[in-house]
Amino acid sequence: MSDSAFTARPASDGFNQQPSQAIGSSELIGEDPAIQVQHLGFRWYKGETVLDDCCLEVPRGEFWMLLGSNGSGKSTLLKLMANLLQPQSGSIHISPHTGFVFQNPDHQLVMPTAGADVAFGLVAEKLTPSQVRCRVEEALDAVNLLPLLRRPIYALSGGQKQRVAIAGAIARHCDVLLLDEPTALLDPDSQLDLVAQVQRLIKSRGLTALWVTHRLDELDYCDGAFLLEKGTVVDRGDPQRLKQRLMQMSI
Ligand SMILES: Nc1ncnc2c1ncn2[C@@H]1O[C@H](COP(=O)(O)OP(=O)(O)OP(=O)(O)O)[C@@H](O)[C@H]1O
Ligand SMILES: [Mg+2]
Repeated sequence: MSDSAFTARPASDGFNQQPSQAIGSSELIGEDPAIQVQHLGFRWYKGETVLDDCCLEVPRGEFWMLLGSNGSGKSTLLKLMANLLQPQSGSIHISPHTGFVFQNPDHQLVMPTAGADVAFGLVAEKLTPSQVRCRVEEALDAVNLLPLLRRPIYALSGGQKQRVAIAGAIARHCDVLLLDEPTALLDPDSQLDLVAQVQRLIKSRGLTALWVTHRLDELDYCDGAFLLEKGTVVDRGDPQRLKQRLMQMSI
């Protein structure tokens, strides 16, 4: 499995209300966004503040990217969204069916084959063997890996491993994907194959994704982007405008 793709937020209403500030409807940017982060604050124990009044919203059915320099808080923000960390202030509203894809697939694929790894993520659902087989095949097919169902994980390329991780989330019927630099270890061709495939999946299945990257050419595939600086979102919106801005800043 893929803790690449675990169910991140068990709360039934999908609302992770931390010591939170009141949210007025006038503050809501979009209608029913799939991801809503309000006034989030986080610091490590005895550490410096990592996130400071961080706010963002990802519209349902869209593919957004999160950029920012090293140490700006991108991975911490995703871990908070995935309920792996708890904020000191603010709130996060996200689907209870959220999948997480880590930068290094070797940290998340734990079973010997592609099919077994995707199936392992379904254990908690108590499905029948034929339901599991059906879910696994459908999910691997969605990422064009069905022919590799029995392929050992060690014999997959880096991009194929990332697609197995994504298949794990699809098999569990996740509707939100959080991806933390999933292309960081891939060569340029595999990188663009993966981002294009994720874009197609999101559009064909009505999913929502937030994808962390440092690679500006990936901005050509998304609907919008956020720029994080010292734990605060300082810019958001049109990916091509942000691309121009970042090309000048060389993050
Ligand atoms: N487990 C931890 N304990 C204490 N501090 C941490 C821990 N993990 C990260 N940090 C610190 O939190 C800050 C934000 O780190 P984070 O990993 O979120 O940055 P990032 O934007 O993802 O960076 P990168 O682009 O290098 O991946 C950094 O100053 C980092 O040193
Ligand atoms: Mg990071």
